[in-house]
Amino acid sequence: MTVRVGVIGTGSISRVGHLPHYRNHPEVELVAVADVDPTRAEKVAAEFGAARWYANPTDMFDSERLDAVSICTANNSHVPLALMAFEHGADVLVEKPLATDLAAARQLADAATKHGRICMVGMTHRFRNDAQALKRFVEAGDLGDLYAARAQILRRRGTPAGWFTNRAVSGGGPLMDIGVHVLDLAWWLAGMPVPETVSGHLVTGIGRYNTVMSSRWRSSDAANQDNGVFDVEDYASAYIRFKNGLVLQLEVSWALNGPQDDNLKVDLYGTKGGVSLDPLTYYSERNDIFLDSSPSIERNDPYEAEIHHFVEAVKTRTQPLIPVEQGVSIVEMLTAIVASAERRREVVLG
Ligand SMILES: NC(=O)c1ccc[n+]([C@@H]2O[C@H](COP(=O)([O-])OP(=O)(O)OC[C@H]3O[C@@H](n4cnc5c(N)ncnc54)[C@H](O)[C@@H]3O)[C@@H](O)[C@H]2O)c1
Repeated sequence: MTVRVGVIGTGSISRVGHLPHYRNHPEVELVAVADVDPTRAEKVAAEFGAARWYANPTDMFDSERLDAVSICTANNSHVPLALMAFEHGADVLVEKPLATDLAAARQLADAATKHGRICMVGMTHRFRNDAQALKRFVEAGDLGDLYAARAQILRRRGTPAGWFTNRAVSGGGPLMDIGVHVLDLAWWLAGMPVPETVSGHLVTGIGRYNTVMSSRWRSSDAANQDNGVFDVEDYASAYIRFKNGLVLQLEVSWALNGPQDDNLKVDLYGTKGGVSLDPLTYYSERNDIFLDSSPSIERNDPYEAEIHHFVEAVKTRTQPLIPVEQGVSIVEMLTAIVASAERRREVVLG
């Protein structure tokens, strides 16, 4: 079976993480792309060999029979576009964060069930070989009982350019942008426990800066938006208690006066051992002596693995690694962090 795919949004992540891997997939026909910027849609369609391009997703769905779509647009349009895809009988791979508010995320999960559609969230880091290796350690019981976790991405300067700093479009700053990745990874590795209480804090500590010779992710529209709105935090921290007793500390920044580091860091602490991502280490004790191991893992392309996994789920009608319900749980934690920061109080989840 050939899977007929459309891609909505032909900006930065679409060109890095989705289109090349659909184009190269032997069982995918890249039927069309859609972008509200028609010049970009036409150019990207030609670049990646999509048969047709559209200046809006409605026209694409009305004209094409699609089995599946990737949604690679700014955060506030993920849910309406995914609902549109379900109405037209297409399965969905939606970029992170699934949604910017919890009610919309839940609405999407309900719609996926109602329409019998596959809806996977693009939590790319779960597909990294090193993350998959840590998951094996946890599942084999090598850590004993997990009781604490830390999740961090601390950039010295790395505020993305474009709509990311505009809350109405992005839903928030580094929490929604990179916090979603590292929170999801730590939560998944820890066995996806049920959150009970959340305490969060958001700060705009540095805001705009003039630092030169530092890199940052750019929205394809950044050139038009560089002087746009900046009404989000650039540092976020949170403390989450789970019903099974685990606690998780989260810390993310786009700009912070510490060492420059863009790496995603996760530490899991258990009664028998611990693991860390970056550097990838398994901490244990043997014969009453510390024994630290560095698993030997070949690097892979997690974007390619993500697309292959999604196509397989579509073909075989099986639950993907990140079903929409797990995306909803992450949005629940993210929005509770924001609510706690606003109230300056711990939030109790139902
Ligand atoms: N998985 C990852 O590692 C990863 C990395 C970066 C970004 N992302 C996510 O990918 C998404 C896109 O980010 P980006 O950096 O590519 O942004 P971008 O601004 O470069 O691209 C977005 C594109 O979508 C188009 N668009 C916006 N609204 C649309 C609509 N309603 N219909 C059709 N087209 C529309 C824009 O014209 C633009 O071309 C975001 O949700 C972001 O969080 C994920």
